[in-house]
Amino acid sequence: MPKYKIAWLPGDGIGVDVMDAARIVLDRIALDAEYVHGDIGWEFWRTEGDALPKRTLEMMARTDCALFGAITSKGREAADKELSPALQGKGYSYRSPIVRMRQLLDLYICLRPIKAYPGNPLNYKEGIDIAVFRENTEGMYIGIEYAEVPEEMYAIKGMEKLPRDAAISIRAITPGASERIVRAAFEFARKHNRRRVTAVHKANVVRMTDAVFMDAARKVAAEYPDIPFDDANIDAMGMWLLKNPLNYDVIVTTNLFGDIISDLSAQMVGGLGFGCSGNIGTKYAVFEPTHGSAPKYAGQYKANPIATILAAKMMLEWLGEADKAVQVEGATAAVIAEGTVRTYDMGGTAGTLDMARAIAAKL
Ligand code: NAI
Ligand code: MG
Repeated sequence: MPKYKIAWLPGDGIGVDVMDAARIVLDRIALDAEYVHGDIGWEFWRTEGDALPKRTLEMMARTDCALFGAITSKGREAADKELSPALQGKGYSYRSPIVRMRQLLDLYICLRPIKAYPGNPLNYKEGIDIAVFRENTEGMYIGIEYAEVPEEMYAIKGMEKLPRDAAISIRAITPGASERIVRAAFEFARKHNRRRVTAVHKANVVRMTDAVFMDAARKVAAEYPDIPFDDANIDAMGMWLLKNPLNYDVIVTTNLFGDIISDLSAQMVGGLGFGCSGNIGTKYAVFEPTHGSAPKYAGQYKANPIATILAAKMMLEWLGEADKAVQVEGATAAVIAEGTVRTYDMGGTAGTLDMARAIAAKL
């Protein structure tokens, strides 16, 4: 029996291309694993009314972790229109499979390493090395939203200020979820000898919810007196990150702010072709490139697979295969530094699988 069972979830569009590439690298390092294919994505929404079918979730429950490519998702109207006629009008509503996985499997950490590999022509500055810890289960993404103010809400004091036609999204922040994401950031900082942890918020305006987050952050920080801790407002952080990215090390924040900071930071080290992430819980984790299905490049094997190969490297670390993780990262860094094999986004002409083979050849 192989040592690991890994759910293999290519999904839609270039998700398939980049996962094929990651497999070349994993096969090369001979990871002792069985890869179990799982259905996920738009096709299953259209034909079954569920982009993350129950059988896929059941299969995942029998695996150690998952590697996920990308999915296509569309707005409510388009989703309803593309649903197969037999299923229309039966109460199906599209839900993002990745958001669902995070919530169902309690993958409370979204970790995004932001590293400028030397020689990447897309680096904004050399030397950037930041880890973003984003809370992954609550905040603005709990999905409690109203297209207009529900009448009952006017019974609550203060709500009379709300215009009748206001749409409402509820932001919920709990001490428990805040403490565990901040603790994850500090544990990471300790394990990897990081210089500092910075908590990002907007506590001066979003007073109630961000006070809960910051109280939790300060409480946890006090348990790690050896690791410097500071905080910044989300808006100022956007500016400072661009101005002085080398000043930041570990960043921890709530769901929506973390989503934004992660993409901003990823762009500084090469953009979508380089952005990888781990959705990590206590027992299970799903690793993925952060990009989507890029429909215009689907099946052309042009997309940069480095984000997915680095996601696989994160998976190896999480599985405890530290040596293999170091090897994969080293081989990837070597190919980037050499600069002879580059995908289109890096200014080259290499295809998805050329890049994977070049990395595999260094292993
Ligand atoms: P996208 O990330 O799919 O692509 C945007 C553009 O970025 C592409 O057209 C391409 O020029 C570039 N790009 C993306 N990945 C690349 C790679 N590996 N190498 C080189 N260039 C790359 O975002 P878009 O176009 O906004 O969304 C397309 C679909 O993907 C939508 O249906 C969206 O909902 C979905 N999506 C899914 C995500 C996921 O599965 N986690 C995340 C983001 C979007
Ligand atoms: Mg995002």
